[in-house]
Amino acid sequence: MNIVYLNNQFIPSNEAKISPMDRGFLFGEGIYEVIPSYEGKFIGLQVHLNRLYNGLESLGISSPLSNEKWIELCQELIARNEGENLAVYLHVTRGDSPTRNHAYPTNTTPTVFAFTFDIPAQPVPEKQNATVYNVSSQQDLRWKRCQIKSTSLLGNVMHFQHSINEGNKETILFNDQNQLTEASASNVFIVKNNTIMTPPLDNQILPGVTRHIVLALLKEHSKFTIEERAISYDEVLNADEVWLTSSTKEIAPVIKIDDNIIASGKVGDVWLEAQTLFSQYKYQY
Ligand code: PDD
Repeated sequence: MNIVYLNNQFIPSNEAKISPMDRGFLFGEGIYEVIPSYEGKFIGLQVHLNRLYNGLESLGISSPLSNEKWIELCQELIARNEGENLAVYLHVTRGDSPTRNHAYPTNTTPTVFAFTFDIPAQPVPEKQNATVYNVSSQQDLRWKRCQIKSTSLLGNVMHFQHSINEGNKETILFNDQNQLTEASASNVFIVKNNTIMTPPLDNQILPGVTRHIVLALLKEHSKFTIEERAISYDEVLNADEVWLTSSTKEIAPVIKIDDNIIASGKVGDVWLEAQTLFSQYKYQY
């Protein structure tokens, strides 16, 4: 039985109960994080926590725990769940309110829920063993505050399901100017002629922690030119390589978008270099 954390208690998951009047349930009013750990070591923990604080601040919710207590919670949860490679999911809502009213209530106590799930280890990246992605593309029909890691994921879920309906595993999104934003649960990078590009941070994308780490590693340890700039639909389709990044996928090569094969349909050399840097970083102690 998985052990979860709910409002100051570590309990078996089947004992965790939350009020249906919780504003997370009624309004989807909350913030979440997914934080990966390998052999007990968290990747980007403080960057994840900082993004959690930014999200909570944008909703006017004070962080229910201190930074130290969040770290303790994450560590204790992976210790109690005894997995090798676990992601910690943190979920904070405004809490339980007796009346349903759109206005923020003043006296609620935030609900804090956390659990773990297994993630793949991916220790040594190899082209032939890479998990490759065939993806769909769609116009980005989500909201204009995508920098907030909101638990209201309906827009993302609908875009994701579109890819499943088409027999794919993700949907890459483009704004109404036909510029790349991100994917329904990942950031997107492209490679062309030894330049690695990804859209800049703004309200159209989540500031991904994996994106942040990948950019820092490439800037420090590789010879590639790095650009954070607007990327058109045509540039994506004509790229040498396209990658998805997220805490659970790390760097994942895309080999097909709708009916278009990317480059030769093979995993690229630049991916191998980037994922090798990431894997080395992961297991550094
Ligand atoms: N998804 N963009 C979106 C819309 C995401 O949902 C995610 C992550 C990312 C990548 O962010 P990060 O590198 O910090 O994981 C970008 C998580 C993993 C999820 O919802 O399961």
